[in-house]
Amino acid sequence: MSTSIYFVLLLFWPLILSLFYYWTDLYVINLCEIDSCPVCYGEDLCHRIENKEFHLRMSSILDFVYNFISVKNVYFARFNDIDVVIKKLAHQSDLNRVNRKMIDTIDSDLTRVNFLVNTVKRDFQVCDSESAQTFLEVIQFKKSSHLDTLLSVNVEPLLMEVFHKNYGFPVPKVYGYCGRAVIVENCGETLNNFKNIDWYDRAYIAYEILHAANLFVFEHEHFRLYLKDISPDNIVVNEETLEVCFVDLGHSILKRKSASDDEIHISNAYEDGVYQFSKDSICEKDVSDHNVFSVCALLLSKYAPWPMMHGGLLHSAPENLTRHQLFEQIRACEGRVQNRNLTHRIIHSFNIMKSIRSILLPRNTSRYYKIWDYGN
Ligand SMILES: Nc1ncnc2c1ncn2[C@@H]1O[C@H](COP(=O)(O)OP(=O)(O)O)[C@@H](O)[C@H]1O
Ligand SMILES: [Mg+2]
Repeated sequence: MSTSIYFVLLLFWPLILSLFYYWTDLYVINLCEIDSCPVCYGEDLCHRIENKEFHLRMSSILDFVYNFISVKNVYFARFNDIDVVIKKLAHQSDLNRVNRKMIDTIDSDLTRVNFLVNTVKRDFQVCDSESAQTFLEVIQFKKSSHLDTLLSVNVEPLLMEVFHKNYGFPVPKVYGYCGRAVIVENCGETLNNFKNIDWYDRAYIAYEILHAANLFVFEHEHFRLYLKDISPDNIVVNEETLEVCFVDLGHSILKRKSASDDEIHISNAYEDGVYQFSKDSICEKDVSDHNVFSVCALLLSKYAPWPMMHGGLLHSAPENLTRHQLFEQIRACEGRVQNRNLTHRIIHSFNIMKSIRSILLPRNTSRYYKIWDYGN
């Protein structure tokens, strides 16, 4: 009896497999909720999805688990020969609540500005109406129904387009949209997976993360972006190049650049050292050190609490480096050094980068190519 079942399975295995793949292709089409348009994020990739050019990635058990028991509503797929991530940008229950009526309440730039500035408890916050206005001007290329849906659900892809990878920002490339899905570059594995790799590689990643934290504040033509959810889960690293990507931009504060940048907001932990921040204080000054404070306190510090980078990304340094000034600079950046001069936290971040550079330069490997590019 069992032998005959095996025989039938063996005989029909190719058919079973192709039926399975056919079903997973339909699964991708369903995921996108094409029918939700025009209350959707965009439609430019729908024909490619309907042509079945996207296939769920199933190269490991983990892929299978992620794609079929996806808690985060994030799916891993192949698009031609590229590894991509299909993001739905919200939990399904929240998406089910988004409808035409809700979108119709934000139908002009004035209501959009009001919506961005005045909606409380938003993941994405803008400092003031001037910042919101400029943001809307920069993203005016977006069709209004798509724009309004993204404003209501999650602005993450809009931020990825404004702080575009092509302008040098460490974010995933956006390939396009279909229904209630955005398709972005798969940037690798979360920072958690790199916690115990070679120390010098970790130092390079730390360098990149600090560099990125400053890029979001200083490098955009119009804006400063402060990330509210800097965590090892939201930073993804390419295993081969060690390039980093910030994947969860939706939790952030956007501020339009002002003419001067000489007033700096200094972040402060609670008395007992617990990490905190306040949107109003960040928005008050021309520049805030919020991003570097978060990186130092939550990722680099040896006091970083779980579920952040518990014990710090630069733990277990090589013997000859344990007394290196780098560690003192990290303590100064997180604000734990006695008689600290907090005014200089951004400067501390440059000093940390300088120290890492001096440690990595003699290693002379092309893997650390960014330390050659930037002469900090
Ligand atoms: N572009 C990406 N490349 C690789 N992995 C990603 C990418 N975007 C998201 N992920 C993975 O999906 C997880 C959840 O994505 P995220 O955008 O952080 O959603 P959430 O807001 O639900 O936390 C991340 O922690 C990461 O593991
Ligand atoms: Mg996340």
